[in-house]
Amino acid sequence: METGLYHSNDMEDYLLKHTTPEDKVLYELNRHTHLTSLQPRMLSGPIQGKLLEMLSRMLKPHRILEIGTYTGYSALCLVKGLAEGGQLHTIEVNDEVCETALDFFRRAGAEGKITLHEGSALDVIPQLDEVFDLVLIDGDKRQYPQYLEMVLPKVKSNGYILADNVLWGGKVLLNEPDDAYTKGVMDFNDMVADDNNLEQVLLPLRDGLMLIRKL
Ligand SMILES: C[S@@+](CC[C@H](N)C(=O)[O-])C[C@H]1O[C@@H](n2cnc3c(N)ncnc32)[C@H](O)[C@@H]1O
Repeated sequence: METGLYHSNDMEDYLLKHTTPEDKVLYELNRHTHLTSLQPRMLSGPIQGKLLEMLSRMLKPHRILEIGTYTGYSALCLVKGLAEGGQLHTIEVNDEVCETALDFFRRAGAEGKITLHEGSALDVIPQLDEVFDLVLIDGDKRQYPQYLEMVLPKVKSNGYILADNVLWGGKVLLNEPDDAYTKGVMDFNDMVADDNNLEQVLLPLRDGLMLIRKL
């Protein structure tokens, strides 16, 4: 975001300065991910993470589903709003990051509230016999339309789905998608917009966050 009035890094600093900082475990996980991972930008980070936490605290969900655990940052934000006795299911296909996620779930004292499923969401979701109050879609962008089709029957009426990266670096503005990732995101956004049983708002936060309510 360059307006001539400010530089995007200045705005990021301002947003951070006026957002409640990460707790100690999230800070250490953020740092650990930046030191050890090739793509640390995949992690939600303090601003989006705080929004996820606040949405979860408002909804007080009993069952949360997350597609795309990565190192566990967003799961640890969402779990903060979980209702008493609730459970967060999170799915990750890359076993190299699962150890880190499990380690930080333990450090946060959240291991009893989070079930990490190692495998592809496409295989795991059909096996989950649950009805979800809140879902975060943050896996492979090419598979977003499939995730939506698979999770919708498992979301309760008046339940919410959040989807990350729905602006895909601005590539959603192309007339035609030029790769499978962009096509996945564009198809997903159109599916949501065309579904009369959903209402949604696309927030231009970071790489775009879609908030969807199932009617
Ligand atoms: C953007 S990262 C998730 C970031 C995380 N939600 C956070 O905010 O910290 C996407 C993750 O989805 C995982 N992923 C990709 N395809 C998947 C699939 N089919 N099933 C489960 N996880 C998948 C990737 O391995 C990667 O760790």
